[in-house]
Formats: sequence, structure tokens, C-alpha cells
Amino acid sequence: MAPRDVAGSAEAIAIDCRVNGRPIHTAVASHRTLLDFLRDDLGLVGAKRACDVQVCGACTVLVDGLPVSACTYLAFEAHGKSVETCEGLLGDGELHPIQEAFIRSGALQCGFCTPGMIMITKALLSEIREPSVQQIKEYLHGNICRCTGYIKIIEAVQMAARACSGTGRR
Ligand code: FES
Ligand code: FES
Repeated sequence: MAPRDVAGSAEAIAIDCRVNGRPIHTAVASHRTLLDFLRDDLGLVGAKRACDVQVCGACTVLVDGLPVSACTYLAFEAHGKSVETCEGLLGDGELHPIQEAFIRSGALQCGFCTPGMIMITKALLSEIREPSVQQIKEYLHGNICRCTGYIKIIEAVQMAARACSGTGRR
């Protein structure tokens, strides 16, 4: 059972952060994870809980542009930072080129790993515009998929790299 927030108790810590561009001013229990905070408090259920011990990457979100496992990152550590989840990629209701690429490549089956895969891809493409297959494999090595066999996921990242270069979106 996930720990519940005790905001208002002696353990609560005030935080100011931005989540998908939205300013958040609140208090969280010192032990509350970013994943619980996003999913239970803010209703952002894109980041998934699978292993809960920083092994599978299903909960990957970006903090100040860098990928973190939200299941082991404490919510108060986001104080003063910018958090981005896959929900934040929708611009004016339009899918981000990375989201489009995953759909068009058939890079998802059950889809459980997909939000984490998309966020790690965003981090990769902001660092390396045209990653090689080897670089993609290395960057995504902490994100596990039980369904696809990874070939379609690698194709999706390559397609996303081309699309992001074309549109200028990162
Ligand atoms: S649920 Fe966080 S890494 Fe698996
Ligand atoms: S699509 Fe099912 S775990 Fe990746």
C-alpha cells in the first residue's frame, strides 16, 4: 500500500514547483514519493507504477529536463524545479512528435511502459539530435518493455528524432 500524504502534520514540507508548466504550491509528507504526488494528488496518471524500486523505468518523468524514476524520487526534492510528465507533451491538444512516432511505429502493445519510454526519449533527443541505434539502446537500457521486443521502440525513437529535427520541437 502506498504511503499517504500527511500534509498538515509535523512531517509536511512546503514545496513550490512547476508541473507541466503549472505552478504548484503545497505541502507534502517528507516520505512522499514524486510518483504518489503526481498520480494521487495531481491526478497525473501517465507515469506508471510497476516495480516501485527504480528498476523498470515505467515511472520516468523529467525534473529540470533530466529523467528520474518518480517511484524513488521524493516529492519535496522537486522544490524549486520543473517537472514534466507525458501529459505535458500535449500542445494545444496535438500529440508531440515523439508520441506520434510511437503510435505510427507500432511501438506499443499494452502501453504500460510507453509514458516512461516517451519521456526517456525526450531526454535523449534533447541531448543527442540523431542518436545511433547503439546510443538509443544505451540510453533506454533502464526502461523495460514486456511486450514489444524493443525493435519497434528503437524505430520509434529514430522516427521521433527525424520528426523533432523537422519541426524544431524537442
Ligand atoms: S516503477 Fe519506478 S522504476 Fe519501476
Ligand atoms: S508495450 Fe507493454 S510493456 Fe511495453
